[in-house]
Amino acid sequence: PENVGILAMEVYFPSSYVDQNKLEDFDGVSKGKYTKGLGQEEMGFCHDNEDINSLCLTVVARLMEKNHVDYKDIGRLEVGTETIIDKSKSVKSVLMQLFDESGNFDVEGVDTSNACYGGTSALFNAVAWVESSAWDGRYALVVCGDIAVYASGNARCTGGAGSIAMLIGPSAPLVIEPGLRASYMRHAYDFYKPDLTSEYPVVDGKLSVQSYITALDNCYQNYCRKASKKIKTKSSTFNLSNIDYMLFHSPYCKLVQKSVARIVLNDYVHQEHQHYSKDDQTQLKDLCQFKDASLDNSIFNKPLETAFVKASECLFERKTKPSLLLARQVGNMYTPSLYSCLASLLISTSLNELTGKRIGLFSYGSGLAASMFSLRVTEHAGLPEVVNPAKVNDLPTFTLHSLVSGLLEIRVKLKQRTQLEPERFTAILECREKTHTLANYSPQSTNEHIFPGTYHLTHVDEKFRRTYERK
Ligand code: ACO
Repeated sequence: PENVGILAMEVYFPSSYVDQNKLEDFDGVSKGKYTKGLGQEEMGFCHDNEDINSLCLTVVARLMEKNHVDYKDIGRLEVGTETIIDKSKSVKSVLMQLFDESGNFDVEGVDTSNACYGGTSALFNAVAWVESSAWDGRYALVVCGDIAVYASGNARCTGGAGSIAMLIGPSAPLVIEPGLRASYMRHAYDFYKPDLTSEYPVVDGKLSVQSYITALDNCYQNYCRKASKKIKTKSSTFNLSNIDYMLFHSPYCKLVQKSVARIVLNDYVHQEHQHYSKDDQTQLKDLCQFKDASLDNSIFNKPLETAFVKASECLFERKTKPSLLLARQVGNMYTPSLYSCLASLLISTSLNELTGKRIGLFSYGSGLAASMFSLRVTEHAGLPEVVNPAKVNDLPTFTLHSLVSGLLEIRVKLKQRTQLEPERFTAILECREKTHTLANYSPQSTNEHIFPGTYHLTHVDEKFRRTYERK
């Protein structure tokens, strides 16, 4: 099969959010810390009637319905998550309830986890399956979801929640570029969840930022090295000018803006910025004082960082900012974060503009696992190559237009959410703290605020078996 990639996407985020301005006041931090300092506007969160299973049930059911895909046509389903509520039973196995009616239980794949990276690993696995000898002609489904909550303190404002499902197959409007992938994997205790009774991670904030940027440097350089060999460019080398849109895992938007600056610094120290367009080079003219700069020991060099953030502002505005809509208004969804940036870019850019472009993606999961890879937006997509030709006429066609149309309601849904006060948000997190591991438990919150079509937890019985209903 050729041109394997993303055929369709669905995004789900919770219907409740807290305003970061109000959270600054409530937490008593200096005004502007969360909004200007971290670049966040709002943060989505779940009540006690939503868990990782319900988030993933909702997004899969909606993707299948919206795109008229038959559950029989799924041959692999893989979930990336770090929201663990069972040490043995996978979220994937819970999602198999949705397949009951179709009678299709021949579905490969289980869960994958490493902090915010699990979704990318699931995506790579799904693509590999479609490209492999094991492929049986059906679609793969990749699901990522998380509830990102922190103990009260300075990290709490960088939470979020949501789930994303992606349908994977050949002849895709978003093709994963073959052979263009670079990874960086190391051992680090920057963010981890050793206390299995708590939803909260142990975080070394500074180390996590340092690890993220180090992973970015390594992935970017390695990706460019590989791309220089594979792709013909005017300069014969590969740099940011060959990437039309650059998306990042987004713990908070300011780190993403700094990441664009960091890529420009990488190009600058390797003299690659000389291949930028005239206009883009003009923006960098004030950087000559850093002509001897190196990447070593530069991560916490404030004057250098500030100068590169300023110089790369136009590049950030053009290549990255449109991707931050969900990251800014829902927060860090963990595994779906990078893919929420993809969805945001797609609904913020015209189809004409997108067509033929290369989208670079940087995925980071603490601990640590990181990869850079790219998507090519194709002009049009053909019918999926199915095993049974008799079925071709019944199958939905996936085009860039259908993919983007399916995502347009994101903006409507963002507006339909309910804003809750920081006091209420804090009380709900306290409730989750006390109850999220209980047996014989029925959620205290009502379902009035959740969006129609959302799955919610109804009961956890005395043997910890969870049941769900759909609103
Ligand atoms: N107005 C404007 N800016 C302000 C203000 C203000 N009133 N107050 C502070 N700031 C700026 C600071 O100068 C700082 O900017 P800088 O990063 O450019 O230096 C920024 O706001 C943040 O302030 P800090 O004091 O550095 O924030 P703090 O250390 O309290 O927390 C952190 C930030 C570490 C990100 C914390 O929220 C955290 O631990 N989050 C979770 C971990 C995380 O997300 N790591 C990222 C990668 S790993 C992952 O994805 C989970």
